[in-house]
Amino acid sequence: MKRIKIFDTTLRDGEQSPGCSMNLAEKIEMAKQLEKLGVDIIEAGFAIASPMDHKSVQAIAAAVEHCTVVSLARCTKGDIDAAWDAVKEAKHPRIHVFLATSDIHMEYKLRMTREQVLQRISDMVAYAKSFCDDIEFSAEDASRSDWAFLAQCYSNAVAAGATTLNVPDTVGYSTPQEMADLITYLKAHVVGVENTDISVHCHNDLGMAVANSLACVKAGATQVECTVNGIGERAGNASLEELAMAIRTRADFYDAETGINTRQIYRSSKLLSNITGVPIPPSKAIVGANAFAHESGIHQHGVIANAQTYEIMKSTDVGIPQNTMVLGKHSGKHALREKLESMGYELSDEELEGVFVRFKDLADKKKNITGSDIEALVLNRRGVSQGDCRLVSHVVNTGHGVPNISCIKLQRGNEELEDVAIGSGPLDASFKAINRMLHMDVQLDSFSLNAVTDGEDAVGEAVVKVSLPDGRSYTGTGLSTDIIESSIRAYVNGINKIIESAN
Ligand code: KIV
Ligand code: ZN
Repeated sequence: MKRIKIFDTTLRDGEQSPGCSMNLAEKIEMAKQLEKLGVDIIEAGFAIASPMDHKSVQAIAAAVEHCTVVSLARCTKGDIDAAWDAVKEAKHPRIHVFLATSDIHMEYKLRMTREQVLQRISDMVAYAKSFCDDIEFSAEDASRSDWAFLAQCYSNAVAAGATTLNVPDTVGYSTPQEMADLITYLKAHVVGVENTDISVHCHNDLGMAVANSLACVKAGATQVECTVNGIGERAGNASLEELAMAIRTRADFYDAETGINTRQIYRSSKLLSNITGVPIPPSKAIVGANAFAHESGIHQHGVIANAQTYEIMKSTDVGIPQNTMVLGKHSGKHALREKLESMGYELSDEELEGVFVRFKDLADKKKNITGSDIEALVLNRRGVSQGDCRLVSHVVNTGHGVPNISCIKLQRGNEELEDVAIGSGPLDASFKAINRMLHMDVQLDSFSLNAVTDGEDAVGEAVVKVSLPDGRSYTGTGLSTDIIESSIRAYVNGINKIIESAN
């Protein structure tokens, strides 16, 4: 079987998508989860883009042990210097240089001739190679480039020391057959290609990113670039979970395997959604809430008789927690730790303490605590354990035909703050009270509320997007069986991120 390398670009291409930006601590947490998931390569960012990008690539390089850590760089010395400076402390560093090769990009964006592009590739790949052995070269907009010229570009990159040749379908224009034919052509025409990995990087503008990537695997690509939940520029990148499960489920067809620990897929997807506040659509393949649900009677009957009638994968294969009652009011810390470990979560003593307090609180309000409840508590621990401000109490008076009044008490450092406000609804009143006591001009841009499990006593998870007048926006999440409380907690979590970013 061929071993396909998984190159994850959630923290670079993924983070470029609107509403998906992450702070330093969140990027590091995500990178560690990607390592547990078993990706081979983590593209941690674009070091030259901003001091913050540089810092996060550097921090991920230090935090990750087994994966290769990559920074993107344009074909300029300044970009390559910044990329190397950011990844040089990684156990396995890589520099990823790119230059556009399609006529339209060369003429209108780069204003360079073919000869200049060929020369720049040779010079800049060689420059990157002077720092680092592991060099990836991407021909941006490769799928709309002239094939013979493209083969020359890649041949120059190989001659200058590139070890991976990436073939991006930058604008998501290609079809699976075209991508497969292109890979076959490049394998036959690039000088020295036999000593390199051929990679593909497909965007999803026509909904074909995964199909295109898989067609390339069949044609001989040995690396696929993808993101968790398929996030990325415009319609996104190829989705990691779909690629990994397609290669696993149809190993008979692809004759290939990846190093992905599929039981970490669901957790990775939930963590990203929790950090960014971008929900997972219910019908999303592999990780959507409906991906393993059988509603129709015919299907249910078939599955009961023999699961394989309608199931090609098991929900446990991707690590979806079972919604049976797992713990209750009398369960102790030891039982909680054991349950968490069986679900794949290793928490420090301090983290366990925090989750246990919240678990006890939840068990007072909810009879049956399920795997999903526990998972939500763990994913949400950042919302309660980090930051300056902590919700102490709230009293809300609401109803039809009466003023909505909220009285909020917060702890900020050692100081206790309290304020009351009137609003158009209970949340508006609460958020106004918080803004006023903290002297902050925070605007609520969006708000959503989801039930973590079914039932009357379901835990509600609130997600808010808040922004400052200068346009910077932050995501906050909060959890409770009381939806007003989860919403206030989410708002406070968003505020904590604002305060943290100012420090
Ligand atoms: O889509 C693209 O072409 C890219 C390259 C920088 C690899 O993201
Ligand atoms: Zn891209």
